[in-house]
Amino acid sequence: MCGIVAVIGSRDAAPLLIEGLKQLEYRGYDSAGLATVDPRPESFGGLLTCKRAKGKLVNLMQLVEKEGSPGQLGIGHTRWATHGKPEVRNAHPHRDSSGGVAVVQNGIIENYTSLRKQLELEGIRFTSETDTEVVPHLIARELKSLKKQTKNSISSSMLLEAVRTVSSQLKGAYALAVIWEEAPDALIVARRHAPLLIGLGEGEFLCASDTPALAGFTRTILPMEDGEVALLTPLGIELYDSEGQRQQRSPSLLNGVENVANKRHFRHFMLKEIHEQPETARLWVDRHLPAGLPAEAPVALPFDEPFYEDIERIQILACGTSRHAGMVGAYLLEQFAGIPTSVFYASEFRYSAPPLAPKTLTIGVTQSGETADTLAALAMEDKRRKEHGGSAYASRQLGITNRPESSIARQVPHILDIGAGIEVGVAATKTFLGQLLAFYGLALTFATRRRSRSLEEIISLTRELRDLPNQLSNLVDEHDQLAETLANRFSDTQNMIFLGRGINYPIALEGALKLKEISYIHAEGYPAGEMKHGPIALLERRVPVVSIVMPGVVYEKVLSNAQEAKARDAQLIGVAPKCLETEIFDTLMPMPKVSEWISPLLSVIPMQLLSYHIAANRGLDIDQPRNLAKSVTVE
Ligand code: AGP
Repeated sequence: MCGIVAVIGSRDAAPLLIEGLKQLEYRGYDSAGLATVDPRPESFGGLLTCKRAKGKLVNLMQLVEKEGSPGQLGIGHTRWATHGKPEVRNAHPHRDSSGGVAVVQNGIIENYTSLRKQLELEGIRFTSETDTEVVPHLIARELKSLKKQTKNSISSSMLLEAVRTVSSQLKGAYALAVIWEEAPDALIVARRHAPLLIGLGEGEFLCASDTPALAGFTRTILPMEDGEVALLTPLGIELYDSEGQRQQRSPSLLNGVENVANKRHFRHFMLKEIHEQPETARLWVDRHLPAGLPAEAPVALPFDEPFYEDIERIQILACGTSRHAGMVGAYLLEQFAGIPTSVFYASEFRYSAPPLAPKTLTIGVTQSGETADTLAALAMEDKRRKEHGGSAYASRQLGITNRPESSIARQVPHILDIGAGIEVGVAATKTFLGQLLAFYGLALTFATRRRSRSLEEIISLTRELRDLPNQLSNLVDEHDQLAETLANRFSDTQNMIFLGRGINYPIALEGALKLKEISYIHAEGYPAGEMKHGPIALLERRVPVVSIVMPGVVYEKVLSNAQEAKARDAQLIGVAPKCLETEIFDTLMPMPKVSEWISPLLSVIPMQLLSYHIAANRGLDIDQPRNLAKSVTVE
């Protein structure tokens, strides 16, 4: 949530900040702002200019173009509102009362109420409702006292000192960038439990919350560790840990991060990303199911033997769509590989985890790798296992993510990179498919190692997975057109129900979530067999029901559940292979005849496309739906 960028160098800062913010707008788009410092040749220090605009980045761009914002040092922000409405006064950067210190922040300062009270008692007047505004006031207070001590001799390390002192007073998770007009050659950045990376250019540095903002600037990066504070000047970086110890680390190379602001010929990123799914599958198959491996162990995952040893149970922690992927994963791990598996909302697990069980693998699933609830749940689980002690209870964690350079990769020892390429649309599509595939890889691996499935079953699932890219390619094209024609009929719908069972129940949940988040239509996903226990009362002529009926153990059962809905006059949309039984549907979104195991990888496509076209028909902002952000870095 919220994206920050900061730059120091020899070029004009404002255009660099705007370019960076364009790549971070997926993190929030309630308002945007930037501040720059222009050195004043005639005197010591510089002049700080601050521009802020409500709404999307384009509003800030127009403002900066009209009014300018000079200087080679600057900070920028794109906001997802937590404290205070999306108004200009709450937009970042926030400044101290003199206007000389400016701060952008991503995260939440949890103790801001008491800090604000204290500052107000000291006579400070606040101009926003944000938690962040305490920071520039605290820094200014600190600078005042440092200036007194040094008899007004100003230096860049003075700002570093002030930020370090203030950081130690802040509680919560945050990343900060700070500038001060009296030190026009100093940029201070700090992070605690929120991401921040430094990009190294030639004689210039650009810091950002996420790699896409750096990709167009440099490939050489230095991800900051938790608790670190850095002083950047045109001459170099001074990096300090939370104890104030100077750190020396070599930068790393940024690989495979594309410029995300390119939709190609598609109307929206979401549609582009739906169409990229055959490629996501092809890359996964090439990487993890390469030809030439023995049929009884067909999967290549990047873990050594000990990783799989004596795991007796698995728990999956995730949020939103990633949790739905985890639910499909749990089905596979239990039913295909025979390992008892539970799935938890990370936000619930954090505060009500079940009693510790021995020999447990904990899997965190997060496409962004930055979801605060998922990271905190993993950290909590790790901590309580370490406190418990004993080898049977040792912490064993794996992260499934699309961002191997993100925070989760620094937090857990093993990472399964889904390699789907950056996803810009707030609604997850290709990363969901990538997460599902990661679970297929794990389930196949565990099943082969534990011999919980026959060789024929292993070979059959492997063959279907290898054929998946082709299946997806046909399906995406066919259903794109079909969903576009259907969407008209459902654009004014108020409520929609999605039904599925077994391995396709999570796909019903995912269908409902997709529709809610981008079309703002109320939708619910249910296990089809549960309808008769209450929700069936909702059904009538105006309520469309999408029923996922794929061949398998519950095929007849879901068909009967669909019949029950039809008997209540609901409009029935079937996601099912075309055959005699599926003539009961008012509309059929035809599916290929595949095994039940593989069916979620295909049945999700009509869900994504139907939601997309309904939202497009309603003329909505599909890639940046109201109130949402791509990466949820607050609790
Ligand atoms: C997906 O369409 C949603 N935008 C949302 O539910 C998302 O899946 C959730 O916030 C988790 O994100 P993560 O995968 O980055 O952890």
